[in-house]
Amino acid sequence: MKPLEPSLQCPLPDLTATLRLAGAIAPCMRPGFLIYLSGELGAGKTSFTRALLGTLGHEGKVKSPTFALMEPYNLEKFELLHFDFYRLSEPEAWRDAGFEESFDGTIAVVIEWPEMAGDTLPVPDLWLHFDWMQADAGPERLVRLAAGTDRGRACLSALPDAVSCSAAHSPGSGCAAR
Ligand SMILES: Nc1ncnc2c1ncn2[C@@H]1O[C@H](COP(=O)(O)OP(=O)(O)OP(=O)(O)O)[C@@H](O)[C@H]1O
Ligand SMILES: [Mg+2]
Repeated sequence: MKPLEPSLQCPLPDLTATLRLAGAIAPCMRPGFLIYLSGELGAGKTSFTRALLGTLGHEGKVKSPTFALMEPYNLEKFELLHFDFYRLSEPEAWRDAGFEESFDGTIAVVIEWPEMAGDTLPVPDLWLHFDWMQADAGPERLVRLAAGTDRGRACLSALPDAVSCSAAHSPGSGCAAR
């Protein structure tokens, strides 16, 4: 799985901004849509997933799948699987756990810590890298977004209108393995 170069970046100063971003990405989602979420511990990956699921109509809790590896959600229009590979013992372990059919195009998938699976995963539609940047008032949250498919690119092209994103300008800050 080659790193994808981010084309957009969006500030995420608070959870409202995360919610707004998720609200703009949620309409892109359909069966087979694949999103990777990278970034340090606590960078905001689960919060984004929670906002995404809420926008897609899920009303219950959203547990971090750090220990279960995967939490399934039966949404109105499709099924969504939320993975967290932080504790994957080795790159192939998700296959050994029987999750190969999650990628058959019938289920939407969100994966935190995809880099723990090495190069065993398919190219995602969107790859979000949650990060901090240094600002006058201290560190500020932001997310860089890359698209790996035409439908991912179509999704990103509609974003700047919906949220306060701008062209990514950080050479070498690709959404790559850490
Ligand atoms: N945009 C934001 N603004 C302010 N606080 C945020 C934002 N996004 C997340 N947080 C807060 O940061 C904390 C960690 O967030 P979260 O659990 O989403 O991180 P994570 O990237 O999933 O971490 P992990 O790698 O451990 O799974 C939570 O308390 C959450 O409320
Ligand atoms: Mg998390």
